[in-house]
Amino acid sequence: MAIQWFPGHMNKAKKAVAERVKDIDVVIEMLDARLPASSANPMIAQLTRGKPALKILNKQDLADPQRTRQWIDYYKGKSHTQAIGLDAGERSPAKKLIDACLDLVPNRGSVDRPLRVLICGIPNVGKSTLINSMTGRRVAKAGNEPGVTKGEQRIILADGFWLFDTPGMLWPKIIVEQGGYNLAASGAVGRNAMDEEEVALELLAYLGQHYAKELATRYGLKEDVETLRDEELLEAIGRRRGAMLGGGRVNMQKAAEIVLTDFRAGAIGRITLETPDEWRVWEEESKAREAQRIKEREDLKNEREHKRRLAEAGRNSH
Ligand code: G4P
Repeated sequence: MAIQWFPGHMNKAKKAVAERVKDIDVVIEMLDARLPASSANPMIAQLTRGKPALKILNKQDLADPQRTRQWIDYYKGKSHTQAIGLDAGERSPAKKLIDACLDLVPNRGSVDRPLRVLICGIPNVGKSTLINSMTGRRVAKAGNEPGVTKGEQRIILADGFWLFDTPGMLWPKIIVEQGGYNLAASGAVGRNAMDEEEVALELLAYLGQHYAKELATRYGLKEDVETLRDEELLEAIGRRRGAMLGGGRVNMQKAAEIVLTDFRAGAIGRITLETPDEWRVWEEESKAREAQRIKEREDLKNEREHKRRLAEAGRNSH
């Protein structure tokens, strides 16, 4: 699926992170608990390699609690990495965050040796909401539209704890296809940059397999949801919701909007679109596909070169 955003702004944000990261003790990455791996920015991973990391699985109120636990264990199993689940209903988010950072870097956190923390995350992951609730005031949003960047800000969260905010950032090339769909389903990608029907169909294909009961309940589906193809599911939902065109046809675009809006609001249930095991398989498959694509391109280039040489040799022999 093609997703389009704005590389100019993104490059600026990337530069800002690269500059700041040099004197940072912990990198906090806010992830969407419904799609932890899909919402992890590979560019951030590259820029912050080797730094102690705290993964915040945010919006856990919308995610499948059992899967959130799986993901937290998965991240905690990595070296120099801590992970916590969070949502906007948390009473003392600052304490939770500071404790997790101090656990990673215990020798900092005093006035003369402050703990310097960088916080990043994709647009819409809930970073402004979290910062506002920790500071008790309205901090200006770093950027509203995916990829848009404004100035970096430093927030003194407590004595000896400095938080550097970065603009919400996406990355130029999504390798894992399912990751692109999951990001789009979550609302991280602007509406104009994706095909909503395609995204809703992919979402339904997954929900039909893993959250069939929730789907059936939400939309009053009598059919055996697991056996329906994604188009049939979308059509059935459209019919139930009265998203109709003339002649008894379902308005698939409208049905897609209903499904995406419901998913984003948590109206279908607490759902997580990937597990660590699934992600590993998707990633391996995508890497193999990418390697195959590169090889085919290379073969084609060699073939052209070969033909060119033959033609040249033919011309020279005349
Ligand atoms: P950002 O700075 O990372 O771009 O995200 P922001 O805080 O603006 O949050 C994006 C949307 O996600 C907001 O909803 C916000 O209310 C919602 N949100 C943030 N944290 C949580 C959470 O833990 N759980 C849930 N369920 N939602 C969360 P919005 O509809 O775009 O705005 P608004 O209606 O709140 O104004």
